[in-house]
Amino acid sequence: MEIINRIPRMRSVTEKLRRDKRKVGFVPTMGALHDGHLSLIRRARAMSDIVVVSIFVNPIQFGRGEDFDAYPRDLARDAELISTRGVDYLFAPNIDEVYPEDFSTYVLVEELGEKLCGVSRPGHFRGVTTVVMKLFNIIKPQFSFFGQKDAQQVTMIKRMVHDLCVDTEVVICPIIRESDGLAMSSRNAYLNAEERKAALVLSRAHKQAKALYADGEKEATKIITAMRQIIENEPMARIDYVAIVDNQTLEPISIIEETKPVLIPLAVYVNRVRLIDNITLNTPILDDENESSFF
Ligand code: PAF
Repeated sequence: MEIINRIPRMRSVTEKLRRDKRKVGFVPTMGALHDGHLSLIRRARAMSDIVVVSIFVNPIQFGRGEDFDAYPRDLARDAELISTRGVDYLFAPNIDEVYPEDFSTYVLVEELGEKLCGVSRPGHFRGVTTVVMKLFNIIKPQFSFFGQKDAQQVTMIKRMVHDLCVDTEVVICPIIRESDGLAMSSRNAYLNAEERKAALVLSRAHKQAKALYADGEKEATKIITAMRQIIENEPMARIDYVAIVDNQTLEPISIIEETKPVLIPLAVYVNRVRLIDNITLNTPILDDENESSFF
């Protein structure tokens, strides 16, 4: 595995791979890699000739007062972890090269980015789509791999790729959970033992939603109320949002129809740590894999 820090070097590798007609699979990350990332890498390895992983803690997707400075960074540990996983290139550019002083162009996916997480994290998705577009332009991957854990991010990137005719196929990989149900996330590292236990309210709420739906409940407000009750019973938890939305438009749904893919995303603060999670209904591929270990 070659570690590349400079954009020109990454571009020249990319150009050669294109000329040689090698299929590049790209896994963008912010580091602090865990089994969720490794599952994306496995999928990339299976589908591509060459696997590129990027590690870049993207400052413009963090709002004021968020955890940009505290975000866990350990490039040596991450590089070691993926060096035996079939990754060909680790691209870890410097902030100054990604965002030089005169940087002034942003990618904004309107509307979708203002819903759900966009309400409490204004500007976050503009930062995500901008950096992902820039990475796509540098790496030019045939396939790019994202985790369903960040469902809104995935929806927006797919929209950006469609709207701007970006030449990459977005592959969505299922959420990887700990055995007790907690969705894997780099931010789980912030949780102390008590908070880690309290964080299980997220998956418990989702389990309840699945059970109600399986019992025939179709009214979104009833399911949301039941989920909120579970979360509100946990003293360390504070709800940012719990929603039931259309999988594509992220618009709220009032009655769940069996034929329509539905997303049930939530964001909850466990003390100061903001966690997100989601489940889907009526989306056979993701449902099956999502449920495999926990639901
Ligand atoms: O999901 C993430 O880790 C980030 O949002 C991404 C896609 C790497 C962009 O910084």
